[in-house]
Formats: sequence, structure tokens, C-alpha cells
Amino acid sequence: MISPTERIIAEVDGTIGWLTFNNPSKLNAMSADMWAAIAPVIDHFERDPAVRVVVLKGAGEKAFISGADINRFEERKSSAEAARSDGEAMRDGLSRLEHCTKPTIAMIRGYALGGGFLVALHCDMRIATENSRVGIPAAKLGIAYTLSGVQKVLDLVGPSTAKEILFTARQFNGVEAQAMGLINRAVADGELESFTRSYCQTIAENAPLSIAASKSIIAELMKSRGDIDRAKCEAIAKACMDSEDFAEGRRAFGEKRKPVFKGR
Ligand code: COA
Repeated sequence: MISPTERIIAEVDGTIGWLTFNNPSKLNAMSADMWAAIAPVIDHFERDPAVRVVVLKGAGEKAFISGADINRFEERKSSAEAARSDGEAMRDGLSRLEHCTKPTIAMIRGYALGGGFLVALHCDMRIATENSRVGIPAAKLGIAYTLSGVQKVLDLVGPSTAKEILFTARQFNGVEAQAMGLINRAVADGELESFTRSYCQTIAENAPLSIAASKSIIAELMKSRGDIDRAKCEAIAKACMDSEDFAEGRRAFGEKRKPVFKGR
């Protein structure tokens, strides 16, 4: 299995492609090599037809990701080159994650803060434990949260709650985060992985082209009205109508059995 850095582990287990942030002694804080490794791992999972869902998690019990590596901030401040290359690595990694054609889920145990929560925000869905701690401590550090991060928070929770999250810089537990709409589900600590696996199983049994179509259409609809590519959305819908999977879906319904989808 490809792993461009030992701080990112990529594994395929059945229909799930697992991407693990593996820097546990720093609570999985993101270094430049970790940002840069996201794209090749996502490329790999996209190419593997067995992978139906990509799940991101942190190594160890304490954190999903505690944030960008704060120790690098000083260097980034004093070196324009370090700032540029770290910023690019982060933007490229997040963009590749966001544009993954397969569903992506952040499985959050423990801390998901700042740049760590940014990774989760660029996934399609977020599942956390009730005792997870999520938040954006930018105002405690004196930095501005990234444009794409603020946009994602705004899209999820609206301006008033987005301001509460950013102005207070508080850590919210999983129950609060779910009530705010920041995460999809908060589950008991001991159930995080089993819940996530069964959630993935539900998705993996559905038609991949149909799911990819929903993902693309939602991405288009999140754009401002004038920028929505309606022709692209119509072409995506037509490709689903013409697919072998749609024929299989109709047959299975008629035969009163579970469909077996192939993503074609
Ligand atoms: N960048 C670099 N190192 C980090 C880090 C980060 N974002 N978050 C944690 N670490 C390191 C700590 O410096 C410490 O290293 P050390 O053992 O060499 O001293 C180690 O990870 C363990 O963290 P520690 O602070 O001792 O754990 P804790 O349980 O007491 O506290 C947190 C956990 C998450 C509350 C605390 O580490 C923290 O506030 N981290 C920064 C969170 C943040 O501001 N993130 C946004 C950055 S964009």
C-alpha cells in the first residue's frame, strides 16, 4: 500500500479505504509531509474499485488531529518560502480531499481542533464520539481561520453559530457539535468504529454512480447561483439513467432482492 510518509497510513479493508494521521506523540498535528501525502492516498483509493468509502482517522486514543503543527508557525513567519510551501501543501491536500469522487468520512476520537477540524470539514461527513473535542482555537492563537474553513463552517451552521464558534474559540463536545450541525453523529466512545463501519456498509451497498452524482450536484449547488454548471448536473443524471447499475436496481426491485452494484 502506498504511504508517502510514515505519518500517514493508507490501508484498504473490504469496501473502506482507511487514511490514518499517524503522529500520535504530537496528537497527530499536521506537518507539511502529512498535508502533501493526502493527495496520493486519495488518488490510490479512487483508483481502487473495491473502495466505496474513504474514512479518515487519527492514530491513538487522544486525537483525530490537534491542528496544524504550531511549532512550524515561527518558521513560516520568518520564511516566506516556508509559509508558501506549507500553505500550498495544505490547500492542495484539502482540495484533493474535497474533490474525492468517493464519499469521505472523518471518524473523530478526541481532539479535532483548528487545522485538524479543517480536515474533517473537507470530508463529506463527520462522525465523532460524545466526548470528542472539536473547535477552532484560531482566536486563542491570534490567527485567522482559512477562507475555505470559514466557508465550510458557515455552510454547515449559518452565520450566527459560525461566529459563536470562531469568536469563543471554545472546544465543543460531540453532543454540542451534533446539535449545532458541525458533525453528523455523536456516538458512545466504545461504539465509534463499529458505528462508522456499519454506516459505511450502508453507503457501500448503494449505487456508486448515484452517490457520486449526488456529491457533484451538491458541490455545484453550493456555488453561487451564476456559477452553477447545470449542463454538468444534467449529464451526471443522464449517465446514471444509462448505467448498468440502474438496470440492476430496477431488476433487483422487481425480483425483491438486494441489488449488487458495480459502479458502472
Ligand atoms: N502542533 C504541534 N504540537 C502539538 C499540537 C499542535 N497543534 N498539539 C499538541 N501538540 C504537542 C504538544 O506540544 C505536546 O508535545 P510535547 O509532549 O513534546 O510537549 C504533545 O503534542 C501532547 O500535547 P499536550 O498539550 O501535552 O496534551 P494535552 O492533553 O495537555 O492537551 C490539547 C491537548 C489538544 C488541548 C493541546 O495540545 C493543545 O491545545 N494543542 C493545540 C491546539 C491548537 O491550538 N490547534 C490549532 C492549531 S491550528
